[in-house]
Amino acid sequence: MKIRKCLFPAAGYGTRFLPATKATPKEMLPVLTKPLIQYGVEEAIEAGMDTMAIVTGRGKRAIEDHFDISYELEHQIKGTSKEHYLTEIRDVITKCTFSYTRQVEMKGLGHAILTGETLIGNQPFAVILADDLCDNDSEAGSVLSQMVRLYDKYKCCIVAIEEVPKEHTNKYGIIEGKLMEDDVFVISNMVEKPDPEVAPSNLAIIGRYILTPDIFDVIRDTKPGKGGEIQITDALMTQAQKGMVLGYKFKGKRFDCGSVDGFVEATNYFYQKEIAQTIEKTKEKKK
Ligand code: UTP
Repeated sequence: MKIRKCLFPAAGYGTRFLPATKATPKEMLPVLTKPLIQYGVEEAIEAGMDTMAIVTGRGKRAIEDHFDISYELEHQIKGTSKEHYLTEIRDVITKCTFSYTRQVEMKGLGHAILTGETLIGNQPFAVILADDLCDNDSEAGSVLSQMVRLYDKYKCCIVAIEEVPKEHTNKYGIIEGKLMEDDVFVISNMVEKPDPEVAPSNLAIIGRYILTPDIFDVIRDTKPGKGGEIQITDALMTQAQKGMVLGYKFKGKRFDCGSVDGFVEATNYFYQKEIAQTIEKTKEKKK
C-alpha cells in the first residue's frame, strides 16, 4: 500500500523557545521566510504524500491559518510585484489536504501519535517532527523519500537515525542494532535518552518515522516511561520484539531546530545556500 498520509505531532509547548513560543507555535518559527512546518509538509509532498494530518494543541491555531487561503492578503497582493512571495505556499495548499486534531493533554510523543489515529486510520503512514529540519541530499532526495523507498522493500516500521557525539546521547532515543545492508540496521534495542556511559551506541533516532498502523494498539498498551510520558521508542521496542523495526542512516543534513543552537545553525546554512543559488542563477542569466 502506498504511503499517502503524513502525521505531524505539533502539540508540544516548545519551552526552549520561550518567550517566542508563548503565543506562537514553535512549528511556525521561520527559518529565513518559511515556517518549520512548511518545510516538513514540502518534504512529505516530495516523498509522494498528499494528506497531512496535524496533531495540534491549545495556542496552535496559526498552523491551520497558514495552510489556508487568506483572501484579504490575496486581494491586496494580486497583480503586484510582491505576488511571487505567495507562490510556494499556494503550491503546497493546492497539492494536498490538511486535517487536524487536538492533543488535549501533552502526555508525550507516543501519545501524540496515538491521538492522530483518527486522522490516519488503518494504513501505513509517515511521521515528521517539524522541529527536526532536514535538507535534501542532492542525489538521494529528501530523508522521507529515502525512507519510503526502504518501506517499499521491507514493509515494516522504520526510524531515521544519525550518529551523534557520544556526550549527546541523553538528548535522543538511542538504538542498538545489527547492520543488514548499507546504512540499514535491524533494531534489537532502543533506549530513551540514556546517559553516555550506558548508551548502547551513538546512533540517535531523529524526527522521521514510517509506521505501520498496528503501532496504535501497541502505544495503547504502552505505560508511561522516561519523564512520565508515553514514549514512541518504548512502543517501537515492543514492535521490534514482535517483528522487524529498521533504523535507517539517512543521507542529507539535519538540524535540531527545537534548540536555539540548532535553529541558528539551520538559519545560517539555508541563508548561505540561498545566496549560492542566487549567484548561480545570475551567472546563468548572463550566459
Ligand atoms: P519535544 O521534546 O521537542 O517537546 O517534542 P516540545 O514541548 O515541543 O519542546 P520543549 O522541549 O518544551 O522545548 C518533540 C516533538 O513531539 C511533539 C512536539 O510538538 C515536537 O514536535 N510532542 C511532544 C507532541 O506533539 N505532544 C507531546 O505531548 C509531546
